[in-house]
Amino acid sequence: MAIKVAVLGAGTMGHALALVYALGGHEVKLTDNSMAMLDKAGRLMETALASLVEYGEVAPAFTAEWLHHQVTRLPTLNETLEDVDLIVEAIVENPEAKRTLFDLVDRAAPDHAVIASNTSYLDPFPLIPARRQSRSLVMHWYTPPYLVDLVDIVAGPQCDPAIVDWAAQLVAAMGKVPLVMKTFVPGYIANRLQSALNAEAYRLLDEGVATPEEIDTAIVHGLALRMPVVGAMAKADFTGLGVQHHALRNGTYQPPPPRDHCDTLDKLMAAGRTGVMAGAGYYDWPGDTAKLFAARDRRLVALKRALREIGTMAGSTRAKD
Ligand SMILES: NC(=O)c1ccc[n+]([C@@H]2O[C@H](COP(=O)([O-])OP(=O)(O)OC[C@H]3O[C@@H](n4cnc5c(N)ncnc54)[C@H](O)[C@@H]3O)[C@@H](O)[C@H]2O)c1
Repeated sequence: MAIKVAVLGAGTMGHALALVYALGGHEVKLTDNSMAMLDKAGRLMETALASLVEYGEVAPAFTAEWLHHQVTRLPTLNETLEDVDLIVEAIVENPEAKRTLFDLVDRAAPDHAVIASNTSYLDPFPLIPARRQSRSLVMHWYTPPYLVDLVDIVAGPQCDPAIVDWAAQLVAAMGKVPLVMKTFVPGYIANRLQSALNAEAYRLLDEGVATPEEIDTAIVHGLALRMPVVGAMAKADFTGLGVQHHALRNGTYQPPPPRDHCDTLDKLMAAGRTGVMAGAGYYDWPGDTAKLFAARDRRLVALKRALREIGTMAGSTRAKD
């Protein structure tokens, strides 16, 4: 059933979430406290939609005209919250900014509205007014959310379980993969695993054991090739659990101790090599940034299509055969 969705924050995640909910058939209102961001969000949504149509992920009937009919961009919070069923909080990762916004939401939003925070690492529940707690949860998406299907769902401490079920069904109906977690932990599962992988990559780089290219070769042609099919847990089943069991007992591998920096990363940052947007990071990325993102997205779409065909042997969407 179509619902009315307010997306608060029109940045990297907000504009893309507005597009995702619109493609899911929902009526969306999008706001930001920066008019420049709200303006830019219109263009970003149009570009992303055009790519999805070009790659055959979305029917050509989903035009820019359709988009601007389905997603209304509004300058004020109160107009955005009027008559909505779901409020998606996607503003800056700053607890005080989020607390202030939740107070304003409390004053203006309909009583029945569900509040869903997209925070990556903050515990949002202490920031949300008491009377909204029974209808507050985390719905955490990954960028770009119109291509990455995982949505972490975490109930607030007083959240009605029926709201959690409703949220999981809502995202599943949009073709996404809800992952309902028992409790809030910063980074959920995927970001925590990514952080562990990053910590090891930083050590390999700083100790001169591996170059960025060698790390990516190992991931792309080794680790990652298997992951969509068997994840990490089913992979261990196929390898035989004894391998992990003995490795732990032998203590041959020691994870890197916690550190607050990586020398290699610090040098790149100091040189202005901050990533694709800057034309360079670990790699050189000359040329048109939009084309680079499009080249990445085209490959992701092809991979998703192949995975839909072959199915996976791990996780909540595990194939039966
Ligand atoms: N970027 C990612 O890959 C990613 C992935 C998953 C989750 N998240 C989470 O999503 C949230 C948003 O992240 P982002 O990367 O989109 O940030 P961003 O900086 O790109 O966008 C945040 C937007 O919020 C706006 N804003 C700030 N205060 C506001 C207010 N009071 N009212 C309305 N708009 C306001 C800013 O103007 C900005 O446009 C964060 O909590 C982040 O942790 C980010």
